[in-house]
Amino acid sequence: MSREHPETMGQQFGRRSWAEPWKIKMVEPITTTDRQTRERALSEAGFNTFLLRSEDVYIDLLTDSGTNAMSDRQWSAMLLGDEAYAGSSSFYRFESAIRETYGYPRVVPTHQGRGAEHLLSQTVIKEGQIVPGNMYFTTTRLHQELAGGVFADVIIDEAHDPSSQHPFKGNIDLDKLEALIERHGAEGIAYVSLAGTVNMAGGQPYSVANAKALRELCDRHGIQIYLDATRLAENAYLIQEREPGYADKSVAEIVRELCSYTDGAWMSAKKDALVNIGGWIAVNDEDLFDSLRNLVVVYEGLHTYGGMAGRDMEAVAVGTREAVSDDHQHQRVMQVRYLGTLLQRWGVPIVEPIGGHAIFLDATRFYPHIPQDHFPAQTLAAELYAESGVRGMERGNVSAGRDPETGEHRYPALELTRLAIPRRVYTQAHMDVVAEAVKAVHDRRTATRGLRMVYEPHYLRFFQARFERREEA
Ligand SMILES: Cc1ncc(COP(=O)(O)O)c(C=O)c1O
Repeated sequence: MSREHPETMGQQFGRRSWAEPWKIKMVEPITTTDRQTRERALSEAGFNTFLLRSEDVYIDLLTDSGTNAMSDRQWSAMLLGDEAYAGSSSFYRFESAIRETYGYPRVVPTHQGRGAEHLLSQTVIKEGQIVPGNMYFTTTRLHQELAGGVFADVIIDEAHDPSSQHPFKGNIDLDKLEALIERHGAEGIAYVSLAGTVNMAGGQPYSVANAKALRELCDRHGIQIYLDATRLAENAYLIQEREPGYADKSVAEIVRELCSYTDGAWMSAKKDALVNIGGWIAVNDEDLFDSLRNLVVVYEGLHTYGGMAGRDMEAVAVGTREAVSDDHQHQRVMQVRYLGTLLQRWGVPIVEPIGGHAIFLDATRFYPHIPQDHFPAQTLAAELYAESGVRGMERGNVSAGRDPETGEHRYPALELTRLAIPRRVYTQAHMDVVAEAVKAVHDRRTATRGLRMVYEPHYLRFFQARFERREEA
């Protein structure tokens, strides 16, 4: 490429360029920091990016949860928030949006996703029952365990291989599930915990074909399926792109179809639904609804607000409809893919295919000299912050926690550092800065040493654990 003939981003990648389906109306200034300040902040944070102050962060890719930019429609709807304790009209608008978008008739609001996980787990899991799922998620599994359940991973093997090009690495392995049913009997299975997309596998989708076959298998055994719909619209976009017969279906239609194969769903609205707080659980069955609606008043708030303000429910109602727009999902997924493709071209190891909400750096291949109990993914998140002020998070040995039986680290097959992209927040120029920062950390990877954990909290340790740099390899 000659300097006299600059190319657009699309041309550089041999395609037509895309652009954000919005224009910017309000901005939030961010500032760069120097290396010395970042080193001090990192050491004060115990080398855990969750313990950094956001004012010390330049580009914040810690999470796509609650970090979305809301639209002018959402902000204006918030002014209509009905803050009545009971029977708020905002709840009824919220309920209609969930019913229309996901298709379940009975909706219980919660303050965020884990509130819904708590209610579902306490209501449907009996002591000792197995909860099969397409890979664990941290809060989901913890609530299942706290309710007496035992999570069993039944995702296809390809999901544990960061280089596998399988287009639907979120699929459930039906043979693994059937073997579990045979071993424990249908009554030994609480429900199937299905997630779309699968966060811990790298934002990977499951297919409609898999969902249909799963429904058929579960119907034969009388087992319920509950869906974590936190990023279902992103899953639907990837189906539209990859699954034969779905190219002409809208994201909204695919979301509805996916839900039709399940008995209910819960959601952290802080992701797909383009808000900063909120959640829900929605089901078909009336008795289950009654139980959930009763329990919500104990832990979250009355069944017409569930821990949210009226204005929060207004924002979710509008955001839920915006989330299933094809244009929005196209830009969303393409922005993530743009960052990932740059890294791939430079030989930085990442999880492939590139998923819906984040780039997952493969710390095992990035730092082959750092053993897993020196926390390579935690190290990589810390090094990237020190290099550039870009904040990501660990999704490996620290996140996986300890086996409650043996007390040992779980040593997951995937040791990843996640760069989650908030929706409608950063531009392509920010992605360029992030890519160059990762490259710089990669270029000096052989000189990097691992970490030692010096403080380990009991629950969800990744949020609050503290570390020190190791002197020796
Ligand atoms: C797939 C998935 N499920 C559930 C949750 C929990 O939701 P929340 O953080 O709103 O409690 C998250 C949040 O990160 C998630 O990514």
